[in-house]
Amino acid sequence: MSKPLLLIVEPELIKNVLSRDFPYFTSHGMHVDEEKDPISGNLFSLDGEKWKNMRIKLTPTFTSGKIKMMYNGILTCGEPMVDHVKNIATQGQPMNAKEVLACFTTDVIGSSAFGIDCNSFKDPDADFRKYGRKLFEITWKAAFARFLGIIIPRFRRLGIEQDVQQFFVDSFTKIVELRESGNFKRNDFVQLMLDINQKAEATGSKDGLKLGQMLAQSVMFFGAGFETSSTTMTFCLHELAHNIAIQQRLREEINATMQKYDGKLTYDAIIEMKYLNMVLDETLRKYPPASMISRVCTKDYEIEGTGVTIETGTEVFVSILGLHRDPEYFPDPEKFDPERFSHENKSNIRSFTYLPFGEGPRICIGLRFGVIQAKVGLCLLLKNFIFTPHESMKYNMEIHKNSQILSFQEDLLLNVKKVS
Ligand code: HEM
Repeated sequence: MSKPLLLIVEPELIKNVLSRDFPYFTSHGMHVDEEKDPISGNLFSLDGEKWKNMRIKLTPTFTSGKIKMMYNGILTCGEPMVDHVKNIATQGQPMNAKEVLACFTTDVIGSSAFGIDCNSFKDPDADFRKYGRKLFEITWKAAFARFLGIIIPRFRRLGIEQDVQQFFVDSFTKIVELRESGNFKRNDFVQLMLDINQKAEATGSKDGLKLGQMLAQSVMFFGAGFETSSTTMTFCLHELAHNIAIQQRLREEINATMQKYDGKLTYDAIIEMKYLNMVLDETLRKYPPASMISRVCTKDYEIEGTGVTIETGTEVFVSILGLHRDPEYFPDPEKFDPERFSHENKSNIRSFTYLPFGEGPRICIGLRFGVIQAKVGLCLLLKNFIFTPHESMKYNMEIHKNSQILSFQEDLLLNVKKVS
């Protein structure tokens, strides 16, 4: 209400802002005060040189090789989910997809970002599930804080409540102490960050991470990785329940590929599933969890050939949801059609109109992890169960108006039957 925002819609300009002319738009415009609020020093919120250095340090943590190393941990978190859904199916109850997938994702991210076995299925009030839920609770207070952040940048932070922050600080400190005190190691992000430190110490470089910096990144991984992946799987199951032919084709692909790998859902098997990729890409098109991204202009920038200058400090927004549902780029945009992402059709998608993970140097660093996590969850569920819409659910479900991450207003209930 105090200054203009610029919403850019032209793909060429979006490309220039996010990628080609990135040095003019390096910031997400978040308030950072590492002294008073260590969590604000996370990769998403940092900008300038601090962001660049942190991104360089963390990038090797997210390579395909590292994600492959963590794969078995992700798969293990799927076992209690399958048992839980089996019980639901046996009792003939509807499954609350959002809740089941939130528990699975809490277990995966808790285990990989904090090195903790969360047991969300055994104990839905386990601390990580409880505080994870609080992190994304859509309260009026949170909505107001976000609104305030839009008009006063000084208030723009992740907006994590004090008790939630304290829980993460305490948990993380204990974990690091435990790791540093003994020979205990795990294939997770905590270990990868500790390895960065060990390497820095050994080479005498200043590239190590302080405890506060590691904590900030772990909370960020939890915040950025939990809700995004869990809503992606929820949206996908919603569409598959309404599109039985697509669901069946995907199940057949999962079974056929697993047969090639001795009946196991290995990392290589998942990577080989092409239709799974198409279904997930289409889910992220129709329902991009981060529906809007922004950059703050950090140096005056003239838009080529227009004589128009974007002034320093101006916030520039890109509506990912707007692009993904634009009939000019995706004809009949409300239709869920994985064929848009077939090998032949994919190359016809205009560049910078499909951006579920953003683009350019600030593209989502957890992309590979988020995708693998969602694929594992979906494969385990579809291999074992058939989903149909519960009688109380409509196809066109309402989207939550106050949620930062795209989500349905209501819980998604699905009928579930064991695959015979
Ligand atoms: C389906 C899952 C996910 C989606 C759709 C998603 C989407 C996004 C988007 C749109 C951005 C902003 C990019 C931009 O500004 O251009 C972003 C940034 C980010 N994401 Fe993700 N994300 C997902 C999963 C994850 C996971 C699993 C993690 C961590 C383990 C993660 C960590 C981050 C971080 C740290 C950033 C900030 C990167 C930077 O500013 O350098 N995300 N994500």
